[in-house]
Amino acid sequence: MSPKPLRILILGSHGGLGKALTRRLVGIGEVTSWSRADLDLSQLDLIAPKLEAQPFDVLLNPAGMTSPDICEARQDEAMIVNMEAPERLATCCQRLGRRFIHFSTDYVFDGSKTALWSEDDPTEPVNHYGKTKREGEVAVLAASPQALVARVSWLFGPDKPSHPDQIITKALEGSALTAIADKTSAPTFTHDLSDWITKLMVDHPEVCGPLHLGNEGTASWQEWGLEALKIAEEMGLPLQTNRIEPLNLAESTFFKAARPPHTTMSTARLTHLTGIQPRAWQEALRDYLHGKTALAFSLSRS
Ligand SMILES: NC(=O)c1ccc[n+]([C@@H]2O[C@H](COP(=O)([O-])OP(=O)(O)OC[C@H]3O[C@@H](n4cnc5c(N)ncnc54)[C@H](OP(=O)(O)O)[C@@H]3O)[C@@H](O)[C@H]2O)c1
Repeated sequence: MSPKPLRILILGSHGGLGKALTRRLVGIGEVTSWSRADLDLSQLDLIAPKLEAQPFDVLLNPAGMTSPDICEARQDEAMIVNMEAPERLATCCQRLGRRFIHFSTDYVFDGSKTALWSEDDPTEPVNHYGKTKREGEVAVLAASPQALVARVSWLFGPDKPSHPDQIITKALEGSALTAIADKTSAPTFTHDLSDWITKLMVDHPEVCGPLHLGNEGTASWQEWGLEALKIAEEMGLPLQTNRIEPLNLAESTFFKAARPPHTTMSTARLTHLTGIQPRAWQEALRDYLHGKTALAFSLSRS
């Protein structure tokens, strides 16, 4: 008799990571993906009955309020969705004996050091988004010590336009380009992240607690953008410019919420526990942009 397929429940199915995880995991088990319409996480009392009615072995939660500026403006709602709801999800998983994989962020750190942040470093969020995510981590692990809390940073991929897509689109239009040059983290391809999560789910069900997941290396927004333009030029896209003028984080006025300056995380624990060696972010970005054809860029402009 063949073993029963793993039943995987994914929240945030319309989000950038939720879509990537759903696509990747379909070949691994029986996947059910829920959007906000299936389960609104701000409706806390709906969480337990919905989960109890749905057969699953593993729950993945990439859903949440992910814009620091919106979290700053809607603080109570952000705390409910990013802290109280994950706590309820973890409590249910613990009671039902199911595995819970929750996603968090490099913004739990204050960004005050340029060396890599480890899972043991102190957390000190500088904005409400980071505070809600950190409190969510603590609540999840208190409710379900076997849960995995995957901290990720600067996601890019085909399911949601991010910094490299925006820079290339503007360079095709001939707009003047600027990007912050003194804020750093690790750009991370959702495709690679979905592979690591798959391996953690299938081969390492014992791994729990906070775990940093990201492509190797570090970049500022300016460096990330310049690398995207270099690859786009190699691909023959008709860029009107390949220059990005540097901006200073302290002088940037377009953010409502404070941003931590340096938040690149060490993935040594991931490698130690699983043998996974994330590839460099530049290589991952090249793969992503080559997969996104010139036609897709021209369509995104129309
Ligand atoms: N993107 C990044 O660069 C980045 C960096 C660090 C950490 N992370 C973390 O990685 C995870 C995934 O990020 P992402 O970029 O994939 O986020 P995303 O694209 O913003 O997706 C988040 C999803 O959560 C859903 N959601 C929001 N409020 C909800 C509610 N009340 N009930 C149910 N669903 C709700 C949204 O639904 P709707 O589609 O209906 O709005 C959206 O589909 C998050 O935990 C985030 O904090 C992301």
